[in-house]
Amino acid sequence: MGDIPGITQQLPYLRKLGVDAVWLSPFYKSPQADAGYDVADYRLVDQRFGSNEDFDHMLETAHGLGLKVIVDLVPNHTSDEHAWFQEALAAAPGSRERERYIFRPGKGENGEQEPNNWNSIFGGPAWTRTTNPDGTPGEWYLHLFDTKQPDLNWENEEVREEMRSVLRFWLDKGVDGFRVDVAHGMIKAKGLPDWEGAAAMVEGSISEGEATHESPGGSGQDLSKAPFFDQDGVHEIYRDWHQLLAEYSGDRMLVAEAWVEPAERLARYVRPDEMQQAFNFDFLLAGWDAERLAHSIDSSIEAVAAVGAPVTWVLSNHDTVRHPSRFGLKDPTTFPKGIAAEDEQPDAALGLARARAATLVEFALPGSAYVYQGEELGLPEHTTLPAEARQDPAFFRTGGAERGRDGCRVPLPWTASAPGYGFSLNGPQDGAQPWLPQPAAFADHAADVQDGVDGSTLELYRAALAFRREHSLGRGSHLWSAAHNPERGVVAFLNNGVLVLTNMSEAGIALPSGFALVLSSAPVQDGLLPSDATAYLVPEKA
Ligand code: NOJ
Repeated sequence: MGDIPGITQQLPYLRKLGVDAVWLSPFYKSPQADAGYDVADYRLVDQRFGSNEDFDHMLETAHGLGLKVIVDLVPNHTSDEHAWFQEALAAAPGSRERERYIFRPGKGENGEQEPNNWNSIFGGPAWTRTTNPDGTPGEWYLHLFDTKQPDLNWENEEVREEMRSVLRFWLDKGVDGFRVDVAHGMIKAKGLPDWEGAAAMVEGSISEGEATHESPGGSGQDLSKAPFFDQDGVHEIYRDWHQLLAEYSGDRMLVAEAWVEPAERLARYVRPDEMQQAFNFDFLLAGWDAERLAHSIDSSIEAVAAVGAPVTWVLSNHDTVRHPSRFGLKDPTTFPKGIAAEDEQPDAALGLARARAATLVEFALPGSAYVYQGEELGLPEHTTLPAEARQDPAFFRTGGAERGRDGCRVPLPWTASAPGYGFSLNGPQDGAQPWLPQPAAFADHAADVQDGVDGSTLELYRAALAFRREHSLGRGSHLWSAAHNPERGVVAFLNNGVLVLTNMSEAGIALPSGFALVLSSAPVQDGLLPSDATAYLVPEKA
């Protein structure tokens, strides 16, 4: 599964890649029912990943290299193996222990029905019934995700105080920030009212995107109105945390994982007294389509400008099909919940070309950008994982209807010729296998075969990130250029004097005169930028 000493060892690779910070998904003590998003102890590194001392050493090494470290905070729910939940199960209804979670009596004569009709985002009901110490059926508890992830009760001051203390624990260690999991979900509407939309929602976050873009299988409902998402009360929590972070020296930050729409609702999370960043999933969901991309750029920039925050661009993460695979589907705007062998298989070469082009757009936009591990190698999704290898609770809770997120989480290949492609340090000695099997195609993507190779995706990312830094593109501004024509598949904008030109049309397009080509995602021949490519150009010196 990888470990913290392994991260420390590869920090120089990240430094060379040209990123400023590293965000780590949860490494806390956990039974791993949802890849660590089920935390059993918020202050302890899980043994399988190392120790708290390993973390301290990693943090110190990162800081020594000029890299910041962002840790994942999971405040919406704990693991059912967290001491608090175990205490709650052992305690009586109405007790202080139960008040930390959302326990309710069931409906029906004998309390045999769920307290409301909410569904889990991973499929199935959002409620599980407890068993009393005497063996009789007891109250139900709410879990927006897996049954092993009981939701905390954020109306309870003790919960708020505990999470403040967790923030302080990691801030005291010196972490630079937190990625806040399900930042839109902690407060539920009063009375926990039934909601018909829940029945159609499988992966809440992802369905939300589908609803926005009406892609096949989408619920078509406005999921932002769900009584468990984007309630106004969440902002009080972020205003509180903002102040807490401000007590610390340096530049500490919070980034929201909040699948809310429209863009104006998302912008509320990055008001001046709340978080510093919020992932802009609208851009991720736009797919490979000039008009949708242009519209997403416009609306995202406009919405955050109103609150004085940067946009936080992202194309892939651990919950979504990797963008080289999405963009290689017949409809490159679709958003499948994982891909299996029996599903449509992406065109790998086409998808990679488009992914490289989209990444150059992302890096040239003003604001922040996040790179998902292995993206810099052009890694595709593992689209043929056998059911036996799958781990995602969403796969199991939907009876396999959702393929799940394992395909984007497969350990990345460091060296083409080593067992496990060099991922597991112990692999060659003790035969340890990576926690998810790697596809054969990963050999061609291994970091060692791309390192120093002109035109490789790794070198493209390094060059683009260096260029972004050199021209301060993250702090620049966005202006559509005269060449911009999304109806015809041309996306073109200026940022700090740099012209960014993307060709999403079927034919090559001529590079404009008066500009010199600096970098392109595909070779330019005879002055033509080919289809599915992006170029960076700078004004020619007179
Ligand atoms: C969002 C995380 O990104 C995802 O991986 C996780 O399953 C859910 N939140 C629940 O914590």
